[in-house]
Amino acid sequence: MTAILGISAYYHDSAACLVVDGEIVAAAQEERFTRKRHDAAFPHNAMTYCLTSAGLAPEALDYVVFYDKPFLKFDRIFETYLAFAPRGFRSFARSLPVWLKDKLFQRSVITRALEPVFGDIGERLLFSEHHLSHASSAFFPSPFENSAVLTMDGVGEWVTTSVCIGHDNELEILREIHFPHSLGLLYSAFTYYTGFKVNSGEYKVMGLAPYGEPKYADLIRKNLIDVRSDGSFALDMQYFNYCTGLTMTNDRFSELFGGPPRAFEAELTQREMDLAASIQTVVEDVVIRLARSVRAETGLGNLCLAGGVALNCVANGRLLREQIFDQIWIQPAAGDSGGAIGAALAVHYMGLGSKRPSPHGDSMTGSFLGPSYDVNEVERRMSIAGAKFSRLAEDELIRRTAAAIAAGKSIGWHQGRMEFGPRALGARSILADPRSPDTQKRLNLQIKKRESFRPFAPSVLLEDAAEWFELDVESPYMLLVADVALGKRTPLHGEQLPMTGLDRLMVNRSVIPAVTHVDYSARIQTVQYELNPLFHALLTEFKRLTGCPVLVNTSFNVRGEPIVESPEDALSCFMRTEIDVLVVGDCFLEKADQPSHLLQEASFEPD
Ligand SMILES: [Fe+2]
Repeated sequence: MTAILGISAYYHDSAACLVVDGEIVAAAQEERFTRKRHDAAFPHNAMTYCLTSAGLAPEALDYVVFYDKPFLKFDRIFETYLAFAPRGFRSFARSLPVWLKDKLFQRSVITRALEPVFGDIGERLLFSEHHLSHASSAFFPSPFENSAVLTMDGVGEWVTTSVCIGHDNELEILREIHFPHSLGLLYSAFTYYTGFKVNSGEYKVMGLAPYGEPKYADLIRKNLIDVRSDGSFALDMQYFNYCTGLTMTNDRFSELFGGPPRAFEAELTQREMDLAASIQTVVEDVVIRLARSVRAETGLGNLCLAGGVALNCVANGRLLREQIFDQIWIQPAAGDSGGAIGAALAVHYMGLGSKRPSPHGDSMTGSFLGPSYDVNEVERRMSIAGAKFSRLAEDELIRRTAAAIAAGKSIGWHQGRMEFGPRALGARSILADPRSPDTQKRLNLQIKKRESFRPFAPSVLLEDAAEWFELDVESPYMLLVADVALGKRTPLHGEQLPMTGLDRLMVNRSVIPAVTHVDYSARIQTVQYELNPLFHALLTEFKRLTGCPVLVNTSFNVRGEPIVESPEDALSCFMRTEIDVLVVGDCFLEKADQPSHLLQEASFEPD
């Protein structure tokens, strides 16, 4: 047996992953346990979960592998500051002590962090490289024997974009683009400029884009980014501040776009929507151009994607529609948490030379790699918490849950193993009826406590997906955007046509308005029986009741907090929001039955 623990930490989204004989047996993000969103601390809890769930003692591990090389990263920070000195001296002086304390001596920091569990880890501690970890997380779990692999993110050590070829148990790097030229950082610069939080507000920019017109796209292309025919690119650093300052953009950037950045939480205007549409268009164009050149360069028909930019499901959807590649597979934990998986698999295949099984399917197994709780344990915990519930047989549980959704209720759904990666896929989800015109507003404002424009995503039975959406491939990880099928759309009335901005939210565009974005698009999860039989049964029952095989599926959390992990997290979120019903294990809880002392104040952190 070969057991390898992958660790990602100290940047954002720390995580641990356990690979045994090439199989990904467990993976989880630290934030779910500590309840700190994007927690970057060493993933003690996630690591302990991985070991205990597999029943492995620490001494049974062959290797612990860190997802990047801290020394190379320090090199980048140091050289970047030197190159820009003395302009960046102030922020350099401010950030240096942090690096000296935590980053420069990261080997010893990691060794010390592992010590309570592993004692002297010694030679068993290995280091992967950031983009190799991403590429490995994209290729090795994919169902492909050969594939082109494209990784794009903010920045790792130096690399921001890489093109590789995956073949059997090998990855060969063809080319790289280096810091400061980065698609991820360009997108983050606009995230910052439109008044959202970098490293978490990028989704909001993507969600806002369809409300705007890409009016600034040419300005961006002319001034900020030089894209060559092969998709390689360079940014004009005169407009950015991330090399030297503590902000992403500078005064020159503000001058170019006609004003200062939007203040955090200030009102959204058409300008931010147009900026979002513009950067989304430009980034999509670069991704498409890169993909075309990768296809021409490698001649391969498959493409694997990872890195934070691969979470841009609108760009992924366009990649699919343009049919540059025959098949695309995207690592569901495409951000840095997934680096833990990639690092462990890189050691297993490339380090140890292990053969990949042949044939092999998608080895992320629906991304259901986190903790689960058996029904008696759930019952025990709910009883201790003082909740009022009924325990139902599976048929009854499905029947009552589907009926509640059809009656307009929102459901907290906590079942089976927690998802790995940013998306809730039917294990830790809030579910609702997509047919209702006010579901989107109600869920956003009353339950998730977030901005009204944020779109919701549909889960659809795989067998019905092509009838309801313009999508003819599986999308088990909710990473592809496609349009609602023409037959399910509702014609617009004359007076609705000139609507602009957020007014467009008020218009019913389809028979499933809660999951139909203003441009008719939807971020789709296809649900197949093999990966999640219970969720599949729920969708099937909802379809039997209503004729609609689609549910709204959003992550089980409120704004600013991580997705729930334990049954207690689920109960707490249920009692803090206007979720009507909680279904956890075989326990069925209705809000109206709960004792009043369990009710909690609603509060949330701005994100
Ligand atoms: Fe990354």
